[in-house]
Amino acid sequence: MEVSNRFITIKNHVDGAPKESDFEIKAAALPLTLQPGSTDIIVKTLYVSIDPYQLNRMKTASSSHGTSSYSVAVNPGEAIDAYGVAKVVVSGNPHFEKDDLVVGIFSWGEYCVVKPGGMIRKFDPMGFPLSYQVGVLGFSGLTAYAGFFEVCKPKKGDKVFVSTASGSVGHLVGQYAKLFGCYVVGSAGSKEKVAVLKEKLGFDNAFNYKEETDLKATLKRYFPDGIDIYFDNVGAEMQEAAVANMNVFGRVAVCGIISEYINGGRRAAPEMLDIVYKRIKMQGFLAADHFDVHGDFVSTTCDHLRTGKIHPLDDISTGVESIPSAFIGLFRGHNIGKKMVQIAEE
Ligand SMILES: NC(=O)c1ccc[n+]([C@@H]2O[C@H](COP(=O)([O-])OP(=O)(O)OC[C@H]3O[C@@H](n4cnc5c(N)ncnc54)[C@H](OP(=O)(O)O)[C@@H]3O)[C@@H](O)[C@H]2O)c1
Repeated sequence: MEVSNRFITIKNHVDGAPKESDFEIKAAALPLTLQPGSTDIIVKTLYVSIDPYQLNRMKTASSSHGTSSYSVAVNPGEAIDAYGVAKVVVSGNPHFEKDDLVVGIFSWGEYCVVKPGGMIRKFDPMGFPLSYQVGVLGFSGLTAYAGFFEVCKPKKGDKVFVSTASGSVGHLVGQYAKLFGCYVVGSAGSKEKVAVLKEKLGFDNAFNYKEETDLKATLKRYFPDGIDIYFDNVGAEMQEAAVANMNVFGRVAVCGIISEYINGGRRAAPEMLDIVYKRIKMQGFLAADHFDVHGDFVSTTCDHLRTGKIHPLDDISTGVESIPSAFIGLFRGHNIGKKMVQIAEE
């Protein structure tokens, strides 16, 4: 049997904010059979993750290219690999069988051939929606968990600031921090997002950064006694304002700098004297470096999900053709929670 596999690609490198005309949908015939002796696995994609870092891969040049297997450049016309949930259609690998549910690196398309050495793992949904494997129990959740507990090294009562707090990673960081016993304030880009943080997710406070003209003064207002932990998702002015408000021995986890992804000219320039004299520890990290805590992450998060203590927000579009608009929407603040696209029903 052969299918027509539709997938998304870029038409050109994308060096500013992404727009619809940068993308196209292609189709290629894919036989759903393997050559004798092949150990490939062919999967049908169910959900794909939509993540800001993909923009850095689409650029003509980026210092991120080549730093990890996840950040390699994407070239025009190529399928774009991405994290997702899928079902095995045919397997030449003895560890996988037809109809196994799997998570791993697949592609922004309907089917994907996973070669030996590719990232793929079976999972048990444990009664949770499959979308959770992309969001709260997937890479976003691991990023939030490892970034907060391993990088920020929180203490009960710490005062925590999270930027892009209603986003995929941010909304989970804030909830882990609250459950751990911290005081948590988040920033987000709309009134609706601020209301979600305060009324649904239990943040102690939240503000719309787009309504503020002086971010240093804003953070002073929300943290009169200073910030102990800043979980940075945006970089630029917000990072400078947070560092200016940090307490001694404060910790900054630099998870991402989305506001700089579309503006190559803008760079955060935090006051380095603050870093030195307040002995602030600032650390970038990648979730992929923290698979050692994956077991703890899954069991702790499943417990919180079962007891209703954590509220994951999934923001789901439907159909492979909606991938470009879902991705573009990340850079326009359209999503609340984890952005993903459902490609097919189970
Ligand atoms: N280190 C890692 O392993 C790792 C893993 C995953 C993600 N990340 C990084 O973590 C950050 C958050 O990722 P995510 O997946 O959770 O995405 P996300 O927050 O769900 O997605 C995008 C959100 O970013 C905000 N945003 C977009 N453009 C912005 C701009 N110019 N200035 C300020 N805010 C902007 C918008 O929220 P507002 O409406 O609130 O502005 C938007 O809704 C990103 O920087 C990402 O690259 C890092």
